[in-house]
Amino acid sequence: MTPSETTPRLTAEKRVLYKVIGGGIRCFTVASRLAYRVTPPWAGKLGSVDHVTIPCRDLRVAEEFYVGLLGARVALRLDAARLERIGWSPEDIEANHAAHLQLTFAGGPHLDVFEYPEGIPAATAPMHPHIALKVGPRQILPWKQRLVDHGVVVAGPTRPGPPGQASFYFNDPFGNHLELVTVGFTDQELPIGVPDRSQLNYEWAPAGLHLDRSA
Ligand SMILES: [Fe+2]
Repeated sequence: MTPSETTPRLTAEKRVLYKVIGGGIRCFTVASRLAYRVTPPWAGKLGSVDHVTIPCRDLRVAEEFYVGLLGARVALRLDAARLERIGWSPEDIEANHAAHLQLTFAGGPHLDVFEYPEGIPAATAPMHPHIALKVGPRQILPWKQRLVDHGVVVAGPTRPGPPGQASFYFNDPFGNHLELVTVGFTDQELPIGVPDRSQLNYEWAPAGLHLDRSA
């Protein structure tokens, strides 16, 4: 059973409390980043995370999933021709499997997806590392439904963090681990902790995803 079938709706008092906690978490995130910038040591600090890389077996499938389903945008399509234009040799491109998609979401680092023969998690791999994407508190259940409607196996949502946090977990078509997370979620009381995430792989067979590959 899903949490929506097993957990009660929140009382009005809890809905207010969870929204307040969610606002506090957002403020804390902004404040902690600001504090990092304006407090000592003044030198030697790094900037934000620039990009994260993940392997895949097929860049076209990756684009279907991340752009067509998850709504990412292709920031740069670094195919062999473009890599050669910036100075890569064909031999190095092939040896390093360097062609990739640079994807962008609303914030955070780029997600660079490489067609790479190693590093794809085994079906039994633990849930770390995983990549978590933010979503609004009223959107997390519709997003779950969208993924399920396209054949993605989803675990959750549950509440692994403070009251009002909600997360669900899923894999991309290759087995890379992902999470959608929100705060200020008040639709229902969720089980505390994380769901069983051991059976998330599936056969990718999407329908109705239309992509513009001209970017
Ligand atoms: Fe997480």
